[in-house]
Amino acid sequence: MKVYLTPTNLASCGFRRTPGGVSHSNMSHCGKRRGESTCRASQLLLLGAARIIQVSNFAQRNRFITMSAAEIAAKFSEAFGGQPELVARAPGRVNLIGEHTDYNQGFVFPAAIDRYVWYAGRRRNDRKVRALSADFQESVEFSLNAIEKDCHHPWSNYLRGVTKFLEADSLQLPGADLVLGGDVPREAGLSSSAAVEVAAAAFWYGAAGVKPDPVSVAALTRKVENDFVGVPCGIMDQFISVLGKKDHALFLDCRDLSYRAVRLETGARIVVCNSGVKRALAQSEYQVRTHQCQEALARLRSTGLAAPSLRDVKPEELEAARNALPEVLFRRARHVVTENRRVLMAVRALDGNDLGAFGKLMNESHISLRDDYEVSCSELDLLVALALKQPGVYGARMTGAGFGGCTVNMVREDATRPFAEIVGREYDKAMGITPAIYIFQASDGALAAAQA
Ligand code: GLA
Repeated sequence: MKVYLTPTNLASCGFRRTPGGVSHSNMSHCGKRRGESTCRASQLLLLGAARIIQVSNFAQRNRFITMSAAEIAAKFSEAFGGQPELVARAPGRVNLIGEHTDYNQGFVFPAAIDRYVWYAGRRRNDRKVRALSADFQESVEFSLNAIEKDCHHPWSNYLRGVTKFLEADSLQLPGADLVLGGDVPREAGLSSSAAVEVAAAAFWYGAAGVKPDPVSVAALTRKVENDFVGVPCGIMDQFISVLGKKDHALFLDCRDLSYRAVRLETGARIVVCNSGVKRALAQSEYQVRTHQCQEALARLRSTGLAAPSLRDVKPEELEAARNALPEVLFRRARHVVTENRRVLMAVRALDGNDLGAFGKLMNESHISLRDDYEVSCSELDLLVALALKQPGVYGARMTGAGFGGCTVNMVREDATRPFAEIVGREYDKAMGITPAIYIFQASDGALAAAQA
């Protein structure tokens, strides 16, 4: 389990990142000088964060989480005095291909990224939780005996839900003082909320001294998102945040939760472009899409097709039943049916080191999401179009739920820097938004070590 015992001298260290480690100089919104770390303990804690490379010089918008583990541990000392006892972390994710397939029992192919949400905490014995969000600069307090949703501090609902559901799952929790924060870009389709949930679970398991089954943790944290927070998401985000593997993407079957880690080609990098936009309708439209899929399936089944989910529908069966579906539902179903096939082909391509074929499937995925599923937007389409004009680009597509957020690009290693500069500049020129561009390294999930 990735729960780190906090070294005793953390509070005296200053917790600053090495200049070469994280080039967030233009991203800082908290006015902190990034300097040399002088402390071995902080370097230990910073191992994960130090792998982050940001090639872009473009300004970050200040709604992104930008705190490092060590800064969070320092915040703990400031807020509660003394040292945190445990530090737990969970990564965000980028989905390479397989979008809007997870809630249709289909296939996905995400990777955990080297950006994390961290909890620094110390146990208390009175079943109270006091939690400070370093990013929102807000605190909450609640009792383990009565955990309710808090509409004034929505960030705390992930922690509240995980705590409540773990207790209901018979984990004995003592209470804790906590600080949470991290550097997963928020509202960018990179699953910062799943990371907040999974890191909370990792913290509580660490505090209870229990080694959990990672797949059950993914299922529980997804249930929190569905039944406590109220977002009807699939399991992809929580699963990869728990079970991601360094230098690999995970090929996951969302029906039986079987999975396989596939090594990522070393000659290419995962480059993510943040459009900087987030549509207000993202959540409601996500729900509309889940209902449309259910409706399309019901209509297909009413024609006599014995498919338990859209994942089981073959392209030719869908084509044959075309007249049984309103045109919109037909296109929604066609996206899911074709996207599942693309994931299977993409995994095969990567197994065979065929980045050209992999990239082509990414491009097709974007077109399908844009035209059939209608979850893209002009900003994402522009980022993809700009990307595909650059040399060394194998493929480009929107990633995550859509309606804003990020694109993911597979770019030849030596082409990444000019890619970031030109795409960033052209996007800014057209949209008036300076996009953050990241090169991510596939990382271990929160409980990856528990699998070893
Ligand atoms: C969000 C959801 C996931 C998945 C993606 C779309 O990230 O949380 O479960 O449905 O959208 O692929």
